Amino acid sequence: MELWAPDTTDKETRMSTWTDVAAMDDIFEGAAIGVAAGDRDIAVYKTEAGELFATDNICSHGHARLCDGFLEGHEIECPFHQGRFDIRTGEATLEPCVDAIRSYPIRIEGARVLVQVTA
Ligand code: FES
Repeated sequence: MELWAPDTTDKETRMSTWTDVAAMDDIFEGAAIGVAAGDRDIAVYKTEAGELFATDNICSHGHARLCDGFLEGHEIECPFHQGRFDIRTGEATLEPCVDAIRSYPIRIEGARVLVQVTA
């Protein structure tokens, strides 16, 4: 006889994973690095205040890598045409960027940085 048990795993847990992407020491204040999480190219930022954020690494205007851009406060400036995004939300804040990029939850475990990628 087959037993049935309800799936008590919430939907977010089933469809997302936390991925270890870097050591805390890999990221300098006021800078960004590019990392891979699954098949995603993600930029991880550390502000001058030591806050961490993660967004898509590819600019929505072209194919520039945002980790090569200039981080100022909570904005990343694209290295190609100087469009900007808010790294907290992924919202485009300066043209020619108009389409948002994805932002990702981020957390620290010990000395490691983890990013949550949702399918
Ligand atoms: S490629 Fe980023 S602003 Fe054009």
